[in-house]
Amino acid sequence: MKLKNDDSKVVGVLTGGGDCPGLNPAIRAVVLKARSMGWKVYGFHDGWAGVVDRDFEELTEISVADILHEGGTMLGTSRTDPRKDDKAYSSVVTMFSELSIDALIAIGGDDTLSVASRLASEGLPVVGVPKTMDNDLQATDFCIGFDSAVNRVTQSIDNLRTTARSHHRVMVVEVMGRDAGWVAVVAGMAAGADYIVIPEVAVSIDEIVESLERERAKEDRHRIVVISEGANVAGINEVSEQVDDRDQFGHISLASRDLGHTLAQAIEKATGMETRVAVLGHTQRGGAPTAFDRVLGSRLGVRAVEMVRRRKWGHMPALDGRIITEVPISDAVASNRKVDLELFEIARALF
Ligand code: F6P
Repeated sequence: MKLKNDDSKVVGVLTGGGDCPGLNPAIRAVVLKARSMGWKVYGFHDGWAGVVDRDFEELTEISVADILHEGGTMLGTSRTDPRKDDKAYSSVVTMFSELSIDALIAIGGDDTLSVASRLASEGLPVVGVPKTMDNDLQATDFCIGFDSAVNRVTQSIDNLRTTARSHHRVMVVEVMGRDAGWVAVVAGMAAGADYIVIPEVAVSIDEIVESLERERAKEDRHRIVVISEGANVAGINEVSEQVDDRDQFGHISLASRDLGHTLAQAIEKATGMETRVAVLGHTQRGGAPTAFDRVLGSRLGVRAVEMVRRRKWGHMPALDGRIITEVPISDAVASNRKVDLELFEIARALF
């Protein structure tokens, strides 16, 4: 028989920002852990939008019975930023007393957790959980979703290599990564890319071409170039700040830059090597979570509930080596965590 805690609570949970595999395992862990202590759990739909609109459902063991292996998020998500609108923000603040919620667990990346951090700084009972396939939050080694994305991208590059090799082509592979090139570096290394272009490291088209030409002396005449969507390549383009397609957090839609195609054209023109491009897009975020993300989501979800019990407001569980630690959310969102340049140098040594 499960022990009931006298201090029975009602806890809310939401997922915000871009979805990724591993969110459902985290939601499941929050629900199962909280319910084992006799608490009630409300799942808000579509990120902060569900809090503003009071759009939620009660979650039980039955609601999460079959979601551990499912990608995406059973709660839905959105990029709603309630700070953009005073009415929406005060609706979030009053939600706690109106629904008698004792704590809210916000599972998200930089944007979602920035809202959580502000609420906590104003005395509201909020705990965070780090997720983003971009892996660019500070204060944690890994975010939910990164490992699944890396595995997906590695598999895609392996597939692209067989066709590139058959046709002796250059294959440019554009991957997600707005401010940091974690997915490009780790998946590129895992798949043996011949060049990796990331936002953190300045590069010109001439340097890329020179490296591909050098490689040409080898018998194997196909090449794989991996590029983060947020990178800049001197000589072919710069990020256009004029683009008007922005979300509520002010992010430009990078898909409209068409960076992969521009780079592919420039490479073909300069080298004369036939070049194709694959923009992996949202396939990187789709599908089932890896075992690593299932376990990480489960560990972080359970710890978040324990932190609610200890009233550790304004903090989130984080992975430090093999250990789960507890860090201020404000530390995690202070800036984007850039790719470790030592890691990039290792990747570059193998180009
Ligand atoms: O979740 C972060 C991210 O994957 C970025 O790398 C990418 O630029 C963005 O989401 C795209 O998301 P969407 O098209 O869903 O707004």
